[in-house]
Amino acid sequence: MKKDIQKNSDSDTLIHISVSSTEQCSTSKEKAHWLSRRLSLAYAASLEASVTEYVLVYTKDGLQLVRYNRKKGSIQRLLHVDFLAGKNRYRRKNDLSIHQPLAKAAGMKPGFRPTILDATAGLGKDGFLFASLGCQLTLCERNPILFALLEDGLLRAQNDPCTRDIVERIRLIQEDSILLIKQKPTLYDTVYLDPMYPQRTSSALNKQELRVIRQIVGDDRDVADLFAAGKQLARHRVVVKRPRLAPPLTEEKISYQIQMTSCRYDIYLIPPQRPVD
Ligand SMILES: C[S@@+](CC[C@H](N)C(=O)[O-])C[C@H]1O[C@@H](n2cnc3c(N)ncnc32)[C@H](O)[C@@H]1O
Repeated sequence: MKKDIQKNSDSDTLIHISVSSTEQCSTSKEKAHWLSRRLSLAYAASLEASVTEYVLVYTKDGLQLVRYNRKKGSIQRLLHVDFLAGKNRYRRKNDLSIHQPLAKAAGMKPGFRPTILDATAGLGKDGFLFASLGCQLTLCERNPILFALLEDGLLRAQNDPCTRDIVERIRLIQEDSILLIKQKPTLYDTVYLDPMYPQRTSSALNKQELRVIRQIVGDDRDVADLFAAGKQLARHRVVVKRPRLAPPLTEEKISYQIQMTSCRYDIYLIPPQRPVD
């Protein structure tokens, strides 16, 4: 994994978070110290010592965002990026067909793997699937907390022989994609956008993970600018993931759609006029 932290942007986070470690080893404690400085968040020597309910904590399983209930002494795991287990592992083992909707939406064909800019990386689930299917991928995430969780998950995946090759195809950047596109206008075959769904229109919002992500990143209000910027970089297509019944992101004509049970992919094809790099 190539990594590029261009900016330690201010977070729009609506919840207060501190950083700690449940591991007693000095490496974990040092990592927590370092992350707290990088994110300008308070450091807590232990969960019990934390002044906030939400804590980014280094555990034996890597970095997690947890909610610590001081009264009960209970820990609720909220966010954790793990490409070696759970749904990510299942997708990597069982969903590696270029005929599956996300691969088709991205423009994969037998013998052709597009280069992809995932400009709304989040927890990297869609992105990791692109890379697992053989695409060279740039993952760009602007929120420093989401970025830290994603970076940690990718580092662990890089150290595992089952996923090392996949991570080698990924470049991870902490930046606002709109700025990235303005500063480094490299062409990609496909630009993929999965902005936060509009509030109240998505049943998926009931999912705890998405609720917490919304609390951290807020609403993505600049999606129109992101779409416009993405179109400048896309050699073949811009793909936008939307809730199934949500209105299109822009008034631009959608070339075609791929419908799923709870979401859809709107595909905007770019006329073939751009020179190959
Ligand atoms: C719905 S989540 C993406 C989920 C992701 N597709 C996945 O599979 O995990 C949206 C993410 O896009 C990020 N985002 C939105 N606009 C962005 C921008 N202009 N630049 C970088 N990241 C952006 C948000 O911070 C948030 O983490």
